[in-house]
Amino acid sequence: MKKLTVNVGDKYDILIEKGIIKNCGNYIKNVTNAKKIVIISDSNIAKFYLETVESSIKENGFEVFSYVFEAGESSKTTNVVISMVEFLADKELTREDMVVALGGGVCGDMAGFASAMYLRGIKFVQIPTSLLAQIDSSVGGKTAVDLPQGKNLCGAFHQPALVLIDPDVLDTLPEHYFSDGMAEAIKYGCIKSKSLFERIENENAKDFIEDLIYECVDIKRVVVENDEKEMGERALLNFGHTAGHSIEKLYNFEGISHGEAVGIGMVMITEACEKHNLTEKGTSNRIANVLKKYNLKTKDNHDIKDIVDSMRSDKKRTGTGIKFIMLNSIGDSFIKLVEYKEMAELFGV
Ligand SMILES: NC(=O)c1ccc[n+]([C@@H]2O[C@H](COP(=O)([O-])OP(=O)(O)OC[C@H]3O[C@@H](n4cnc5c(N)ncnc54)[C@H](O)[C@@H]3O)[C@@H](O)[C@H]2O)c1
Repeated sequence: MKKLTVNVGDKYDILIEKGIIKNCGNYIKNVTNAKKIVIISDSNIAKFYLETVESSIKENGFEVFSYVFEAGESSKTTNVVISMVEFLADKELTREDMVVALGGGVCGDMAGFASAMYLRGIKFVQIPTSLLAQIDSSVGGKTAVDLPQGKNLCGAFHQPALVLIDPDVLDTLPEHYFSDGMAEAIKYGCIKSKSLFERIENENAKDFIEDLIYECVDIKRVVVENDEKEMGERALLNFGHTAGHSIEKLYNFEGISHGEAVGIGMVMITEACEKHNLTEKGTSNRIANVLKKYNLKTKDNHDIKDIVDSMRSDKKRTGTGIKFIMLNSIGDSFIKLVEYKEMAELFGV
């Protein structure tokens, strides 16, 4: 078993082990005095893993209830999260009781937010089942739902009490969601670890999946510990995301995945930086090649000018410009504020 401890708030452990969901109750009982546990999961994941998780938690002496929602980002709404909170109230959970999020990023974000709101905050455990959730969204305590006005606009910081990562569950994850998660793994390599990037470049990620998850989570752990509420260094995790998010917006969030958009965003900002001698030459090519290897896109058909215009409405904008994440070289990143008036020059439009 691999173990990491995140030192924010009440510090919490991340345990990574193949098959760990079969014994999840055993680990959960070490972090709670709960009598009741509500498992929140989505309709796809519940089919594969709900019974296993339920029985392990029951075996460890808890009363267990399950709430299953329709899989997909379209469920990530205030209505669904409120119905989760009402479910917790119906089952008369107290402040001592607990929620377990069994699913991908959508499930973790919603179950986390429901736990943050119910009784002004009860404990929750993350059992992430997509690669993206295992290496990214389950760690760091950001929880949210979408609003008609935009993604993740309504949420809270609420750290989990424990994160249990079982790489075996990735066997049932559809391939394109695996690729989507790989975009984030490549991002971690780009911003913080040349050696991780090179392994992803030279080996097949599935052959070293436990190491890959550990390395990515460890990078996120350090960044989150240094900057829990995203005031500074945590912004590094947004490498490729400003352009990526703008591209997703141009598609109305349909027909392009988040990972694909982030991949294109990483190439786009790095190409621009190379032209201005901010990034070592050849870096954008390396990123593009590794994205292709994991079936991700490297270019978009929209006019760059439209993408740049769309960036100006990014929610992370400051008064005078946008903070971009740039690379000196693979594994070495920095934050640079680019003023709105300099953006056209940066991207050559
Ligand atoms: N909180 C954060 O820090 C953070 C970070 C990044 C992304 N996010 C959020 O995460 C969400 C995306 O996460 P996601 O890609 O995991 O989406 P998701 O939760 O919708 O999962 C993707 C799909 O894979 C299925 N699935 C997941 N695990 C499976 C498994 N083991 N076997 C079979 N099917 C499985 C799901 O049912 C779903 O259909 C977005 O809403 C995004 O905003 C949050």
